[in-house]
Amino acid sequence: MKTAITEMFGIEHPIIQGGMHFVGFAEMAAAVSNAGGLGIITGLTQRTPADLANEIARCRDMTDKPFGVNLTFLPGLATPDYPGYVKAIIDGGVKAVETAGNNPVKWLPMLKDAGIKVIHKCTAVRHSLKAQSIGCDAVSVDGFECGGHPGEDDVPNWILLPRAAEELDIPFVASGGVANGKQLVAALALGADGVNMGTRFIATKEAPVHENVKQAILAATELDTRLVMRPLRNTERVLTNAAVERLLVKEKELGANIKFEDIIAEVAGVYPKIMLEGTMDAGAWSCGMVVGLIHDIPTCKELIDGIMAEADAIIRKRLPGFLAA
Ligand SMILES: Cc1cc2nc3c(=O)[nH]c(=O)nc-3n(C[C@H](O)[C@H](O)[C@H](O)COP(=O)(O)O)c2cc1C
Repeated sequence: MKTAITEMFGIEHPIIQGGMHFVGFAEMAAAVSNAGGLGIITGLTQRTPADLANEIARCRDMTDKPFGVNLTFLPGLATPDYPGYVKAIIDGGVKAVETAGNNPVKWLPMLKDAGIKVIHKCTAVRHSLKAQSIGCDAVSVDGFECGGHPGEDDVPNWILLPRAAEELDIPFVASGGVANGKQLVAALALGADGVNMGTRFIATKEAPVHENVKQAILAATELDTRLVMRPLRNTERVLTNAAVERLLVKEKELGANIKFEDIIAEVAGVYPKIMLEGTMDAGAWSCGMVVGLIHDIPTCKELIDGIMAEADAIIRKRLPGFLAA
């Protein structure tokens, strides 16, 4: 399939794997890129710029296809060495960067000078327009159903995507809630030029996470995610578990007085315990409502080929039937 996104990133299929903390290692990104999508290494999962440089080199050993790096600008206790990470990306010859969390304007000149295409993840039309105005090449429009940080507006993709199409001139992909070919076709119909998937890629053979994480995704339904940190205006959609329910009780009890320190045990430093050790109740981890649509653990190639075959069949066989006189 050829879209503005496949052309922009030099990929075969309009499917991007969004950056995911402690999931987006070289193995994940290479598997997606080898399957014809755009794999993304999560920059901040690497503790230092030198580690990121090493991860980029490892990914290049595993694929000769294009892949990208995610740079997340989230409110944190300590500011990461962003200049160092940007340098590692440029020196590593990476040609695609997914930015998220905050306005990337400060880093755009360096990235653009290096010939890097920047896709910024946004949860609102106004942020997407801002991204366009500062020179981002594309936008990943992340609806309320997404895993991770859906923002504070709560607009689902059924509205957000056509709204983005009304306003944007640059290409965008539909992010949040996507798992199959029906949704890819719907996203294209709503004005997107492709899709970005997070949660769906965790339940693949190559995802370098503990088997317990994959099984938790298979066992969950679309009713099993929760929104945490809403009172802190840092809302995150996560899979429910004992720690999440504990956190929600604290949020209810403390109300507007809650501070990050009150919930630090449930959210800080929990990803390695969950993703690498499989301790599923260790804390809150991002997960989308799309878990309700995930019923198997294919390879990335099987997953992407299946999505493209389903989309192809819908476009060629189902849709033309509606035009019959
Ligand atoms: C486990 C997990 C970790 C994530 N970590 C990040 C991150 O570090 N930075 C980021 O920009 N997005 C992160 N995301 C969001 C994804 O890149 C993507 O936007 C989101 O998962 C799309 O929604 P979906 O899960 O419904 O497909 C994460 C998502 C998941 C599921």
